[in-house]
Amino acid sequence: MMQTSTNSVAATRLLRGPLLHCLAEPDKQDQAIEYLADALLHIENGHIAAYGDYQTLAQGYATEQLQCVEDHADKLMVPGFIDCHVHYPQTEMIAAYGTQLLDWLSTYTFPVESQFGDLQKSRQVAEVFLQELLRNGTTTALVFCTVHPESVDGFFQVAQARNLRMIAGKVLMDRHAPPELLDTPATGYQQSQQLINQWHGVDRLQYAVTPRFAPTSSAEQLRLAGQLVAENPGVYMHTHLSENHDEVVWVKQLFPEADSYLDVYDQAGLLGPRSIFAHGIHLCDSQCQRLADSGSAIAHCPTSNLFIGSGLFPLRQLQQFDINIGMGTDVGGGSSFSMLQTLSEAYKIQQLQQVNLSPEQAFYMATLGGAKALDLDDKIGNFALGKEADFLLLDMQATPLLKFRTQYCQDWRETLFVLQTLGDDRVVVQTNILGQPSH
Ligand code: GUN
Ligand code: ZN
Repeated sequence: MMQTSTNSVAATRLLRGPLLHCLAEPDKQDQAIEYLADALLHIENGHIAAYGDYQTLAQGYATEQLQCVEDHADKLMVPGFIDCHVHYPQTEMIAAYGTQLLDWLSTYTFPVESQFGDLQKSRQVAEVFLQELLRNGTTTALVFCTVHPESVDGFFQVAQARNLRMIAGKVLMDRHAPPELLDTPATGYQQSQQLINQWHGVDRLQYAVTPRFAPTSSAEQLRLAGQLVAENPGVYMHTHLSENHDEVVWVKQLFPEADSYLDVYDQAGLLGPRSIFAHGIHLCDSQCQRLADSGSAIAHCPTSNLFIGSGLFPLRQLQQFDINIGMGTDVGGGSSFSMLQTLSEAYKIQQLQQVNLSPEQAFYMATLGGAKALDLDDKIGNFALGKEADFLLLDMQATPLLKFRTQYCQDWRETLFVLQTLGDDRVVVQTNILGQPSH
């Protein structure tokens, strides 16, 4: 049965403890969560070789193999979190005071982003950023770089050295920003194509064509972005959509011929199963329908929506149209790298709209749902056999309050909710990348 070849001992890991993951979407299907109070997890060469109830599965293993089992009875094994929208260059201006989106961009964001034409600077910030993601249990992210190709090289170099599954791209931006941050339709196209050739599909890295948002790209630049997507099957498209009221009004002025904000992107050929739109707060039903029909996904970024005052995410509206939804931290508009804290704020945003976001659905959106939004659910998102072993060990007693509170939890569901409400990076005691601890 579960044979381990003697020459691959270093690549084998057997872990025992509680295990929790999603098999399907909880809001759509019963029994979508699998919880095993005492599981055996078998990793082979960075992939899931087997998992199941310990007593049952252990019977297929030799005694000497079982002697190598790591005991994590007081932890919880879960898949790595997936951050579907985040800006690595904004790490140094997270928690910037006093503005909403358009002022926030010109006051804080653009000055910081203008420094990323320097490869060393890009690498330095990428190191801090990726360390922060891993400390918080995020193993895959869809990442904005800046307009500079060096910002992409720096990010991918650091991610590659850590063996991470990451998607990123150069920002396309040819107007309404400081001159040092602008490309042109032609240079943006050429530089993106060059970066795609260099990075897309290398190890675990993939490229996203990344127009910042409609106000900072001319119609010609958006058209060329669509051309890049059409000419490079498998690349992603990543942008912002309908985040803030003033932004929505501005887009209407800039593109009077478009039917809606989404239609600006649609006319440029930017919708599809590998297209991810951050925010999507202020959408009419016809835009929702078009998102669903095209297979596009939305990244919900609750801490950002609260921090820069953008609005309340209409979860139920988007769910009615069966749109794929993942979670994003949107650092630095977002105020935390912690996916647990991000889920906690997502819950509160629904509370303000008299909607209950269940802990199962929240956990889904941060794991398997995120993988689905990124069209990566054949590779990551849960412990299904053959998937990449990016997973976490969580300590439910990481803080005095968690230790005190969790002793009153009746079941895994309550524990999960307490964890997302009170937990943060302190809960994540081990982040594993392809089966190996990263910190
Ligand atoms: N819209 C355009 N650019 C940005 C950005 O950097 N952050 C956020 N949150 N929204 C944007
Ligand atoms: Zn953003």
